[in-house]
Amino acid sequence: MSGRTQTRRLRRASRNPVLRAALFGATVVLLLALPASGFAKTDARSSAKKGQLEVFSWWTGGGEAHGLAALIKIWNKQHPATPFKNETVAGGAGSNAKAVLAQRLAAHKPPDSFQGHAGAELLDYIKAGQVENIDFIYRKYGFNKIMPAQLIKQITYKGHLYSVPVNIHRANILWYNPSVLKKAGISGAPKTWDEFIADLKKAKSADVIPLALGQAWTQKHLFETVMIATLGPSGWAKLWKKGGNWSSANVTTALNRFKDLLTYTNSDAASLTWQDASKLVADGKAAFNIMGDWADGYFRIDLKKKPNAGYGWAAVPGTSGVYDWLSDSFTLAKGAPHRAAAIQWLGFLGSKKAQDTFNPLKGSIPARKDANPKLYDTYLKWALKQWKADKLAGSLTHGVVASNAWNTDIDSALELFVQSKNVSRLQSSLVSAAKKRAG
Ligand code: GAL
Repeated sequence: MSGRTQTRRLRRASRNPVLRAALFGATVVLLLALPASGFAKTDARSSAKKGQLEVFSWWTGGGEAHGLAALIKIWNKQHPATPFKNETVAGGAGSNAKAVLAQRLAAHKPPDSFQGHAGAELLDYIKAGQVENIDFIYRKYGFNKIMPAQLIKQITYKGHLYSVPVNIHRANILWYNPSVLKKAGISGAPKTWDEFIADLKKAKSADVIPLALGQAWTQKHLFETVMIATLGPSGWAKLWKKGGNWSSANVTTALNRFKDLLTYTNSDAASLTWQDASKLVADGKAAFNIMGDWADGYFRIDLKKKPNAGYGWAAVPGTSGVYDWLSDSFTLAKGAPHRAAAIQWLGFLGSKKAQDTFNPLKGSIPARKDANPKLYDTYLKWALKQWKADKLAGSLTHGVVASNAWNTDIDSALELFVQSKNVSRLQSSLVSAAKKRAG
């Protein structure tokens, strides 16, 4: 019915006393049912409820959430009809989130867009048909020209692109407390493995925890950096290809180093989050911690520590000139309930504005090559330079080199090892995992 016909009928009805009474009654009922704010607002509210953007990640609190919160603020201002629904599951490195996501995907209840690391982890979702090809987004915004080729390679499968990276993180950082080092008679960050062990001994004698450690995934993170320090980036890369030699003497050396390091850690590691372990360093209760550079965001923003005064950093001993990298990227889930909003979100996430807003807070460098370095604090300015100069090694714990299944096998082997400290048993479990999963 056209608007004019409708008006004419209403006018006619208003002249008929019976209809007039009925119309009046209906209007009263309608007005009573409405909130005081009136028609216009109610319309806007109900359409806003219909539209939203569900984004799934593990970025909750403690150094993780500031960057995302800043993006949400911009998003909500620019997209009032599709407000951001922040679907986060707490637990560093996605230790809980990935399992929840797997259940949702299996039940065909995907969010619109979910966090997935560039590399083997993303490949799992691609092969399972859980994410859409987003070539059209890359064509529209030209992201592939503005992001590094090595990164683009890790989100491409059979010539198609599947996610938008928001950042590049570095895993092999040795964080330390400068005043604790001074008190323990340690002159700056150690560079070689021998220096590192000597410094850990000094810290032990000074009655502080030499190396702060957290729950299981942080132990794998530590293991990964020791492996890279011992095998070098090319030896490390070979392990993830078919026929990689996991039974080599170099791997044994790395595993013994890992075993040795565990003797310098806190006994309550299993019950600590990565933030708890970082805080031990910030509070002067521990000398060192090996963690990714999300710790920079935590030290600087949450704990209000000054770079090079409240906390210091260096490459993990033996890995200077190597960037153990990973990238947080977001996907377009197959069957996304709000697909159009998800497409806009991915376009936004790849923009210079989004990346230069998110990364200075998150403690990561942007995936785009055209970031404005002035916006980045002391550690990140250093990281921006290192990224350009360093050799690359892909992270295990954060999804670059091994699938989720291979990671799970390694998790089980490490869990047993942390109890038994049996190097040869660990090595043979790693050999079997590689045989089963590589290729
Ligand atoms: C990584 C993730 C980072 C950071 C970290 C700790 O896997 O890529 O962005 O959140 O876990 O949770």
